[in-house]
Amino acid sequence: MKRGIITNLLVVVIFFTGCIGVPSSDSNTGNTLKGVFGDKFLIGVAVNDNQVRGKDSLSVNIIQQHFNSIVAENCMKSALIHPEENRYDFEAPDAFVSFGEKNGMAIIGHCLIWHSQLAPWFCVDDKGDKVSPEVLKKRMKEHIYTIVGRYKGRIKGWDVVNEAILEDGSYRKSPFYEILGEEFIPLAFQYAHEADPDAELYYNDYGMDIPGRQEGVIRLVNQLKARGLRIDAVGMQGHMGMTYPTLENFEKSMLAFSSAGVKVMITEWDMSALPSQSQTANISDTVSYRKSLNPYQDILPDSVSSVWNARMKSFFELFLKHKDIVTRVTVWGVSDGNSWKNNFPIRGRKDYPLLFDRNYQAKPFVKELCTLSSDK
Ligand code: G3I
Repeated sequence: MKRGIITNLLVVVIFFTGCIGVPSSDSNTGNTLKGVFGDKFLIGVAVNDNQVRGKDSLSVNIIQQHFNSIVAENCMKSALIHPEENRYDFEAPDAFVSFGEKNGMAIIGHCLIWHSQLAPWFCVDDKGDKVSPEVLKKRMKEHIYTIVGRYKGRIKGWDVVNEAILEDGSYRKSPFYEILGEEFIPLAFQYAHEADPDAELYYNDYGMDIPGRQEGVIRLVNQLKARGLRIDAVGMQGHMGMTYPTLENFEKSMLAFSSAGVKVMITEWDMSALPSQSQTANISDTVSYRKSLNPYQDILPDSVSSVWNARMKSFFELFLKHKDIVTRVTVWGVSDGNSWKNNFPIRGRKDYPLLFDRNYQAKPFVKELCTLSSDK
């Protein structure tokens, strides 16, 4: 009798801890995101250095329990991994890859060629002038061969080029574009494929529901394919707000990318709960204006939280609806406290964009999802 009560209590405890960030006895089955949805698509999360080094054990519990894929939030970007032309810093990236391997996760590399967090030496000579196309090609090739080659066979896929197409479908005038023109993208894909022929290769961008960018990215996919270059998926970052993008536009883009012959990945999913910056206002105007842009400094009111949760759930349901074309859904951080959104587009705000709150508790929609049957 006593044993029966204890067993029942254990069942209840395991059921309820499954979604609140406390490790359950078996994190591979049920009651966790990967337990419920891991057979539909990869469930990923962006991780930082503290997490992979085990310094943030509460986050690590959540990562191990709920996710079967990781991506490096920062440590593989050129400014960090290759700070000087003749110096790489592999300490953090090595720790990231080992962490993924120890936990049996699909490891994603982010990102090989990006105009932001760009190593200062990459596109210029000693005098700070742009290097020639030949020099830049050589540098790109060396950079990509070294990094992709180091992790050959261990990284499932790479964000090869990040954020190169603008909202009107034209190319961003990045240093890579200024020096090499459109050619820098096929070259990057070619070098990445040569360095690890088995790795998946992705083009990754934000605002992918915007028609101009969507068309530009599809043109790019077609060009890469026409040249016989490998591209497996398009990464739709998915940094969302309370009113944008619309579910309809996002779905249209997902289907358009799929029709172009690539898989779709939601690569950097989060949703700001804060008012977005007005295009016309000067944010340094007044204290009251600043307060109005940072309205939830204590807690997120229930009225906002319920809209946020419903919207996040409806997007997740959209991803599930298209599980035949979606191969990965990755959230951009573990818990609200360590999201980049607290500092963007305005530094020092308190935002609520992720699946777990500042106390490492699953948000209501995550708990709901975790109780769904895995045959959903
Ligand atoms: O590491 C330094 C630290 O030494 C210093 O004390 C501190 C002071 O601000 O800055 C730290 O660097 C910050 C870095 O994140 C690591 O935390 C940078 O200031 C900060 O700008 C940087 O922000 C990152 C941002 O990319 C830079 O563009 C965010 O963490 C990261 O989440 C974000 O990720 C990007 C994706 O790679 C591409 N898509 C958009 C996404 C959001 O911007």
